[in-house]
Amino acid sequence: MNILITGALGYIGSHVAVKILKENHNLTLLDNLANSKISNLKKIEKISGKKTDFYKLDVRQESSIKKIIEKKNIEAIFHFAGLKSVKNSENYPQDYFDVNVNGSKSLLRAFEKGRAGKKIFIFSSSATIYGNPKLLPCKETHKEQPTNIYGKTKKGVEIFLKKKAAKGNWKIISLRYFNPIGSHPSGLIGDNPKGKPENLLPAINKVAKGKEKELLIFGSDYPTFDGTAIRDYIHVEDLANGHLSALKYLAKKRKNVYDVFNLGTGRGHSVLEIVKNFEKVNKVEIPYKFFPKRKGDIAINYANVSKANSFLNWETKKSLDQMLKSTWLYEKNKTN
Ligand code: NAD
Ligand code: UFG
Repeated sequence: MNILITGALGYIGSHVAVKILKENHNLTLLDNLANSKISNLKKIEKISGKKTDFYKLDVRQESSIKKIIEKKNIEAIFHFAGLKSVKNSENYPQDYFDVNVNGSKSLLRAFEKGRAGKKIFIFSSSATIYGNPKLLPCKETHKEQPTNIYGKTKKGVEIFLKKKAAKGNWKIISLRYFNPIGSHPSGLIGDNPKGKPENLLPAINKVAKGKEKELLIFGSDYPTFDGTAIRDYIHVEDLANGHLSALKYLAKKRKNVYDVFNLGTGRGHSVLEIVKNFEKVNKVEIPYKFFPKRKGDIAINYANVSKANSFLNWETKKSLDQMLKSTWLYEKNKTN
């Protein structure tokens, strides 16, 4: 199949790119490098042993993207390109709506104009869309009540995609990721955000590497067994496999499709559990101190993954220890 990946040099996109190349699809990569480095392209090629075409473009450059879609006869798009900082989304809401919502709409228009036949589109949505879940484990049928601008942009795109799939030859899936962590077994690609990390594992990595003195744990009196917040951490390799399963599922469909799937493990872990296990499996010390709760954070979320298990024929394989070892493997080896 001829496949385009947007945001392909980023954390999740690069892992999916490697898997797609291993399956011998023809792959075109696109990224504007807002949150990634061009060196990831060589790493993707090195791991997969394949050459690929890369375009440094903004996802909002509709006419250029339409031309690429026509030239390469693109049949499927994985859309990762977007801004993902919850904090920045509150400070720069316009930018977030423009890149995440308008960018997705522009990409869909380019696909529609550039291809007449069946169009497969797989979108990176987020568990943030649920807000503060009332029922756990959280199912796809749970109300979407995002508490931050980032989550609202994901909801905006999902609403648009659902409408789009009602007409025309569209097969669309939104994958709602829980908390992706870990890296490729080669240790070459992983989560490498520009600037100060906001997510838990990149922050722990910085402390393990001695670049930060201590980890700040946001909140110690959540209604959980140890007072720290609980999330569903999923290995990026398991997450990437979920994308291949979604592609296979859509490729078989004849009628129009719009569907949403949670991608998580179904298990929740507290921040302190993550810190303690990271120390144990990697034999490093993570000094920490408690800090006030982060604005907009929720106490607990973990996924009900039975829908993805049965319809996508997908399940996670990696244990928490494997995820935490693999998170550190990348940081330990990283030189930039
Ligand atoms: P990332 O920042 O590592 O990757 C996103 C990539 O998109 C980057 O390489 C960036 O340079 C590129 N990009 C940003 N704006 C662009 C634009 N306007 N045009 C072209 N390229 C652009 O993030 P990630 O963790 O790989 O996340 C990928 C997707 O998954 C995002 O849409 C994100 O919102 C979503 N998601 C991520 C998480 C997570 O915790 N990592 C959780 C849920 C959903
Ligand atoms: N945390 C700390 N210290 C840090 C960083 C995080 O204590 O330095 C805590 C947070 O307060 C939270 C937990 O670790 O309780 C997880 O925080 P993350 O920022 O890693 O993850 P979130 O659940 O807040 O959000 C992430 C991504 C979103 C994504 C969502 C999906 O940032 O993009 O997971 O569940 F949508």
